[in-house]
Amino acid sequence: MIIDEIKQMKNQVLEGQFPQWLITDPEVYKLEQERIFGTTWLFLAHESELKEPGEYITRMLADDPILLMKNSNGEIKAFLNSCSHRGTRLCTEDFGKKKAHICPYHGWSYNLDGELIGIVAGNKVYGEKMDKSEWGLRPVPRVESYQGMIFGNLDVNAISLEDYLGDMKWYFDIMLGRSDGGMEVRGIPQRWVAKANWKMTSENFAADPYHVQTTHRSAVEMKLTPSDPLYASYGHQVVLNNGHGINVITSVTGQSANRFQGMPESMWPMFEKNLTNEQLDVFSKVTNFVGGVFPNLSFLSSCSGTEGNKYNHLQFRIWRPISPDQVEIWVWYMIDKALPEEYKEKSYKGFLATFGAAGTLEQDDTENWARIVEASQGKMARDRKLSYNNVANYLMGFDNVEADPNFVGPGTAYPTCYTDHIARSMHKYWFELISAQAEVTINE
Ligand code: FES
Ligand SMILES: [Fe+2]
Repeated sequence: MIIDEIKQMKNQVLEGQFPQWLITDPEVYKLEQERIFGTTWLFLAHESELKEPGEYITRMLADDPILLMKNSNGEIKAFLNSCSHRGTRLCTEDFGKKKAHICPYHGWSYNLDGELIGIVAGNKVYGEKMDKSEWGLRPVPRVESYQGMIFGNLDVNAISLEDYLGDMKWYFDIMLGRSDGGMEVRGIPQRWVAKANWKMTSENFAADPYHVQTTHRSAVEMKLTPSDPLYASYGHQVVLNNGHGINVITSVTGQSANRFQGMPESMWPMFEKNLTNEQLDVFSKVTNFVGGVFPNLSFLSSCSGTEGNKYNHLQFRIWRPISPDQVEIWVWYMIDKALPEEYKEKSYKGFLATFGAAGTLEQDDTENWARIVEASQGKMARDRKLSYNNVANYLMGFDNVEADPNFVGPGTAYPTCYTDHIARSMHKYWFELISAQAEVTINE
């Protein structure tokens, strides 16, 4: 059984040696869908994407299409985007505004609360006993939000979103709760399909500033980033619960030349009002926040623009697995509602130049993720017995980097971002979830 083979790898996985066959094995992938994506909180949308009653957006929760709508009371509801009659995908648009959704197949219609309100030819074909209230859209089992970020969970017994996020909330408060009015998504989320495994893409953001100086070498050559090969290592890598983690990157001095990531001074009193002294301390010094919420939500808060004239931009993204070697990437750009329009526009342009489907840095990363899956699917890489060393190396900082007790934020903070502490913590949580229900057998 595949689960027994995985369990035999426990020590290797926990000690920084991730067997390469686990990356793209199709049976492992099925277990991940069931035990990880079927039980954890997955990001769906930001509240600002639905402004008026009747507005809707369509998303994916793992493999399930989801329809999110704002009802007439201003509440956001999330349903399986599937007609209750024969299961047809109900809404095919990405976004829009409607009073009711009508199925294209036989014409059943649903209101903004997902209730079945119309059946073509109604009682004449179904008789008097047909009770419409039993045939509404199926709600997502759990939907909760934090700082405007809406998550769904397919497990009715899951712990609350807030408990799941744990200490990540402290860092979300800095990025999402610092200014009055919160954040807004600008434009619609970009999305495209890339050749990659979801674990590798999630790790790249959450746990791997080490790649920056080699993968993004062209940015150094264009003088967009410093030439010091250690420049993305300064600051702290912070391990949080449940496989989450964040890199709080600073300059070599531990400070930033642009206080509060280059946000205009007019915003500072708002930050001082909304954040604690410890949060202000971290925010005033950081150059980049980059991290992730397990399993597949990542974020980057960075700056672009010429020296001395920096514009902060914040992106959230998911890596939705669609096969062992493919992900659908979704990227949301977010900005403080309270900022002046001119700043927002410059920040948005800086984001588009670097990330998203046309961003220069994005191309660099995508190439490497494709190369990992290309080189992990052959017999030699997958052979469990060929060699003890048939593993990917996550040993950086394993026994030579100690936690820094003086870091002011929550979590276990290490005094460098060039370390694999978060990656090992992600693997540990991955292993716990995968092996948690060992009595359930899939594809024996
Ligand atoms: S499948 Fe939707 S109305 Fe028949
Ligand atoms: Fe990168």
